[in-house]
Amino acid sequence: MERVKIVDLIKDPKIGQEYLVKGWVRAFRSNRFIQLNDGSTINTIQAVVDFEQFDEAILKKITTAAAVGLTGTLVASQGTGQAFELQVSAIEIIGEANPDDVQRTVMQPKKHSLEFLREQAHLRFRTNTFGAVFRIRHAVAYAIHHYFNSKGFFYLHTPIITGSDAEGAGEMFRVTNLDPKNPPLNEDGSVNYKEDFFGKAVNLTVSGQLEAELAALALGQVYTFGPTFRAENSNTSRHLAEFWMIEPEVAFNDLRANMNLTEDFLKFICQYVMDNCEDDLKFLNDRESQEQAQKPQNERNELSLIERLQFVVANEFKRLTYTEAIEVLKNSSHYKKKKFKYDVSWGIDLQSEHERYLVEKEFKCPVILTDYPAEIKAFYMRQNEDGKTVAAMDVLFPGIGEIVGGSQREERLDILKEKCAAFNIPEEELWWYMDTRKFGSVPHAGFGLGFERMVMFVTGMTNIRDVIPFPRTPLNAEF
Ligand code: 4AD
Ligand code: MG
Repeated sequence: MERVKIVDLIKDPKIGQEYLVKGWVRAFRSNRFIQLNDGSTINTIQAVVDFEQFDEAILKKITTAAAVGLTGTLVASQGTGQAFELQVSAIEIIGEANPDDVQRTVMQPKKHSLEFLREQAHLRFRTNTFGAVFRIRHAVAYAIHHYFNSKGFFYLHTPIITGSDAEGAGEMFRVTNLDPKNPPLNEDGSVNYKEDFFGKAVNLTVSGQLEAELAALALGQVYTFGPTFRAENSNTSRHLAEFWMIEPEVAFNDLRANMNLTEDFLKFICQYVMDNCEDDLKFLNDRESQEQAQKPQNERNELSLIERLQFVVANEFKRLTYTEAIEVLKNSSHYKKKKFKYDVSWGIDLQSEHERYLVEKEFKCPVILTDYPAEIKAFYMRQNEDGKTVAAMDVLFPGIGEIVGGSQREERLDILKEKCAAFNIPEEELWWYMDTRKFGSVPHAGFGLGFERMVMFVTGMTNIRDVIPFPRTPLNAEF
């Protein structure tokens, strides 16, 4: 008999029909009731065994975490809690699990801390929370491709190994196959990368944007969706050394069109998750609500997870300039009472406490900040008329802070050259990028969405390590 996935069985249960299900035992009560989960859904199916019908030896092997195949007839359930159950006629033990081993793992059926779960990244997939998170992560990825495809964007694969530092922050991982003990040296003692694999120094990409711009200036609208790497030593709940980014790039778009695209895109993702991940979302929503109930009133979220998603979809994002935001911050009672750790003045790089104040206290909705000082943003951003600011935009989300960074790009060759000089970026190394400004250069714009930060928002998880299967953070690449 062919096996049926639990998700499909639950969608269309036929009482009286025989089914074969395969999965992992979540619990086996009273030598009679098996809760089986196969990962296709957060829901388990209850299977009922008549213990007189089976060998003691077989029943002993039905332990938490063991893999079994159960054949049986679907019957209306006698008990409460489920409408139907599987009356088991045959049991196949597929993979045993030693109860003593299970005892020390996250598969032990009780509540575990997320920290403990993180130490067992290989097993945490088996828990309800991580099952839900990773099914939703998949749905978000799918929604993203769906969104761009339906709007006529082309999915572009940009390189992972690159010679450029797109963001100019110098936070790159070097890629080399030189002998670390005995690398070829230049006369001045520095490593001679001309003898390295690619004949030059290369690193893991921090962004696919520069390459995406090339394609956008030919294909019109493209997007990337790939891994990016940053060697920033920030051990926060929002930073990974390896994360995924989505970077759309659109020819002829200005900053306003860029903001409209971002807002529409983020709303689409939230709506998609509400429409397609109901069971998992409800589980995470209730999980969060239970946790919130443990906290003092003033530390609780004002909205539940599902309400936050509904809120994003239903409300316009607040748009204001960086300069206006600085004014708002300086005029806030929070500032006057000296409650910010970092000072506020025009020209500063906003700290996450400032961003979160704007989103969570002042406007209470997603915020798009635009037109930042040129000095604190990347070289490729388009210079504004005032000569001081650039056509940048950051989208700030409640509970997350910056979720999107983007801009209109500098399409004027002469100004771009000046910017390279000002930022100490050797123009020659970027000749292929500069070239696009010589052959029919047009205004264009794009942005980068941090995929894990988006998954955090739609799952309510508060640590980025809990929304990527195998987190890479400083001193951590175990799994
Ligand atoms: O603001 P960033 O650095 O922008 C860029 O890389 C541009 N090239 C994007 C573009 O215009 N095409 O990064 C974009 C987003 C951030 O807003 C954040 O959500 C996420 O990427 N991000 C990180 N996520 C997890 N861990 C990190 N270390 C991250 N750094 C950035
Ligand atoms: Mg940024």
